[in-house]
Amino acid sequence: MSADAEPYLKIDGRRRLDGEIHVNGAKNAALPCLAAALLTDEPSRLRRVPDIEDVHRLLEILETLGIESKFEGNEVEIRPSGTSAGSPPDHLAAALRASFLIMGPLLARTGQGSCGPPGGDPIGQRPLDVHHAGFRALGALVEVSKERTVARAPNGLHGTTIVLDYPSVLGTENLLLAAVLASGRTKIINAAMEPEVICLAEMLNQMGARISGAGQHTVTIDGVDRLSGFNQTLIPDRIEAGTLLIAAAITDGRVCLTGVNPAHLESLLAKFAEVGIPVERTSNQLILSVDPHAELQATNIQALPYPGFATDLQAPMTALLTQVTGISTVQERVFEDRFKHLDELRKFGASIVVKKSVPQIKGPSRLSGANVLGNDIRATAALVVAALSADGESRVYGVDHLDRAYADLPGQLRALGADIELLPSADTLTN
Ligand code: UD1
Repeated sequence: MSADAEPYLKIDGRRRLDGEIHVNGAKNAALPCLAAALLTDEPSRLRRVPDIEDVHRLLEILETLGIESKFEGNEVEIRPSGTSAGSPPDHLAAALRASFLIMGPLLARTGQGSCGPPGGDPIGQRPLDVHHAGFRALGALVEVSKERTVARAPNGLHGTTIVLDYPSVLGTENLLLAAVLASGRTKIINAAMEPEVICLAEMLNQMGARISGAGQHTVTIDGVDRLSGFNQTLIPDRIEAGTLLIAAAITDGRVCLTGVNPAHLESLLAKFAEVGIPVERTSNQLILSVDPHAELQATNIQALPYPGFATDLQAPMTALLTQVTGISTVQERVFEDRFKHLDELRKFGASIVVKKSVPQIKGPSRLSGANVLGNDIRATAALVVAALSADGESRVYGVDHLDRAYADLPGQLRALGADIELLPSADTLTN
């Protein structure tokens, strides 16, 4: 299908965003917390769950493994009917990266797990060696082929010290989900420190697990025999919050985000301060107000594991940097191929050159409406951000990527005053 036959977002730019908006629960916390349902036979409930495609796909996967669920009004009610060893259909595994999170709990509960290649955004190689090495260290036999990973632990999992080659987020979560039911003590060294890892660990502790140090470099897990159900509320989505702040900033907006945790956004807020974008905070609100006459200053961004600048905000931030004065640089140190949005940003008139693999963005550029195609979740969000500040009409294709992770980004932006509309392909074709 050519881009012209897809639904698209029609955006008429240069509307100042103004108002208050509530942030949804975190996608990247919802997925590991839902996978934890495989660890218990008791009913559970998860609250503040974002209504996004990745959550729906994971619930479908869990259903194939004996976990019934009902998703209503941002709450998921879970009724296990006996976790069974199995393998989700390959097409579901391929729908999202986090499908691989079934492996840790399946290994721990049933002694075996199997999963086809997980999907996710095309932003680099995305190997699974950290997960595999961790499962092996816990005593599992892991066979890896192009078609699938099969892991078996006929004698159970045994606590040990695992040093991660890289602080992989899903890798850390998968090993937590396995080690909670392993015998003895596991130490994960060089663990990911993302707030979503802490959210998972706190929930597992509520289920009866004994985890300490989550959010630090070393996490210690003392295995237990069984876990009860959970009743947990997810943390706010810091990436959705960051995207909305960046969108507000690029329109010289005045926006109050409610239901956020400002401490999760320190790296973005520090860059805003450098650029000259004031953001006030309370314990659970962020209030951004940009003076349209203020000259914003260039800055340098390095996407890093938490608490560094979030790679998931790198693309939207790059769009914002087209509007600041001077030359900004952006380095991506998490994913090797996460710059596909640059060509699309240039279509709006952005001035971007890449020197020694580092994009240099010269600003401010007056952006003009363009027809552009996002090829992953955050790249598409970046194009929406750019279109909000462009003169005239833009069409942003690749909307299905947004649906995987944002509950309703266009609706939130519209509520803040953006002129943004989802048009179906039929409309496009008749135009
Ligand atoms: C998670 C997030 C994603 C975010 C990313 C980094 C979820 C569902 N997704 O993805 O939104 O962009 O963290 O913050 O939570 N790597 C290896 N070997 C492995 C695993 C990863 O080399 O076994 C590498 C990857 O190729 C990549 C880097 O580690 O270069 C980061 O990946 P990782 O932290 O695993 O990201 P995800 O957990 O997939």
